[in-house]
Amino acid sequence: MNNIPGKILFDRHEIDRRVNELAEEIGHDYTGKDMVVVGILKGAFMFFADLIRRLPNQPAIDFARLASYGSDSTGSGSVEIRKDIEISIEGRDVLIIEDIIDTGITVNAFIEQLKKRRPRSLRVCTLLDKRERREVELPVDYAGFIIDGGFVVGYGLDYDEKYRCLPDIYILDEERLSGGGL
Ligand code: IMP
Ligand code: MG
Repeated sequence: MNNIPGKILFDRHEIDRRVNELAEEIGHDYTGKDMVVVGILKGAFMFFADLIRRLPNQPAIDFARLASYGSDSTGSGSVEIRKDIEISIEGRDVLIIEDIIDTGITVNAFIEQLKKRRPRSLRVCTLLDKRERREVELPVDYAGFIIDGGFVVGYGLDYDEKYRCLPDIYILDEERLSGGGL
């Protein structure tokens, strides 16, 4: 097999255009605010870097790493903060930046933790939004693209730690999902 994981869903130019639009909208909304952007590792690293360098606001930046272990029937699942943010968010305007929101369980659990630290505001920006698959109610304030099912990789997103470095976003071929060779 070659190194192309599947069909391109969004190429680098489409991503670039959408990231520009998001940066403009977010930059406008956060004018004059004490903004903190929190990137969720690892998947959001590329989107995060592209987005924040286009913001005029000069936000403080920080990162968190989350791990989720499936979901139970209540949709709460179990989410562990593997790496917490390090700066204080009390009284500040926080924007979480995620690569993809699927069931919503991971980001929802993180939001509940951050709320206890009393930020002035807390919003969510995701590049990709699998809205139809949501299992918990989670308001997404900024979404790059709304997508259906299928597993996507590239532009920071992985399958088994592969494909993160690709500059375009692909729908992973079914045959690769079952670990079909190298
Ligand atoms: P959620 O808790 O179900 O919203 O899961 C979100 C996390 O699952 C994301 O941060 C990704 O790490 C991962 N994920 C969900 N769908 C995909 C996908 O299509 N490609 C890559 N990662 C995904
Ligand atoms: Mg992720």
